[in-house]
Amino acid sequence: MSGKVLALGIEGSANKLGIGIVEYDQSTKKYTILSNPRKTYIAPPGQGFLPKETAWHHQAHIVPLAKEALREAGVTPDDINCICFTKGPGMGSPLRSSAICARGLSLCWKKPLVGVNHCVGHIEMGRVLTGAINPVILYVSGGNTQIIAYSQKCYRIFGETIDMAVGNCLDRFARVIGLSNDPSPGYNIEQEARKGGGKMIPLPYVIKGMDVSFSGILTHIEKEAKVHLENGSCSKADLCFSLQETVFAMLVETTERALAHVGSNEVLIVGGVGCNKRLQGMMAQMLKERGGHSFGMDYRYCIDNGAMIAQAGLLAFQNGVETPLKESWCTQRFRTDEVKIIWRDD
Ligand code: FE2
Repeated sequence: MSGKVLALGIEGSANKLGIGIVEYDQSTKKYTILSNPRKTYIAPPGQGFLPKETAWHHQAHIVPLAKEALREAGVTPDDINCICFTKGPGMGSPLRSSAICARGLSLCWKKPLVGVNHCVGHIEMGRVLTGAINPVILYVSGGNTQIIAYSQKCYRIFGETIDMAVGNCLDRFARVIGLSNDPSPGYNIEQEARKGGGKMIPLPYVIKGMDVSFSGILTHIEKEAKVHLENGSCSKADLCFSLQETVFAMLVETTERALAHVGSNEVLIVGGVGCNKRLQGMMAQMLKERGGHSFGMDYRYCIDNGAMIAQAGLLAFQNGVETPLKESWCTQRFRTDEVKIIWRDD
């Protein structure tokens, strides 16, 4: 390949719908994000986002968003070399809505499709943006919690949640104490935690080997919240602070163990919870003590977005991968370690 190669990526596996365009310049050997617009479905107060309503949101916004992505990038469909879409994991109906749009664009524009693993999208976007070469990756979001390291053409899962994702635990507790879903329940937990005086409510600390568990912590803090908020012995801020400190300490501990195991001193945090400044600070502190470095990203790229799907899809496309139309299905279950990372030689 010579000149410039452009990929359009469509992400819609949960409540964010994103379409991004990424360009690879053969002369400079650099990837550039040309555009990355996003629309978020915000569930009504007190509720989580449900598949049907989320899919309707994506269907309503996907065509205007594709036009916006092209306009912002200053390109036409003719300039695009491949259409990348999230194959999984995620919620069935929103995933299908996005995949159907990708197929439509592929047929209309006569461009090849590339199916992308959502988690690999996060990782490759993080590597390109931060310059991290071979970090241990902490992937934390509303649907995923994994500690990952690369080895022999595969992103291997060293540890993960055995029940709910950490973001789901935070979101559900936010709803229990009446925090808003706008812009996101996890963001509102973070802001609430800053308002208190740092009073720590003891909570279960659940690490099993390299895996973590959050469902028991959520049940426990829900009961604590009822008692404490009724008798006034602590505030919502104290509860949010205690929950964050506990679950983030568990994640930092397992990440540190993975670092020791693979002999690395670099961590890349990806996923929506990765925007949390307290988590970034705790991770940076641990790495400072080890003489290492932590790489984080801001909300534009940490949170699900289209450019990350374009980035991972483009890497695969440049190595000869195309997804035939009859294989362009999507799936709710698609583990990070099922993908062969053919574009890495280390
Ligand atoms: Fe994600």
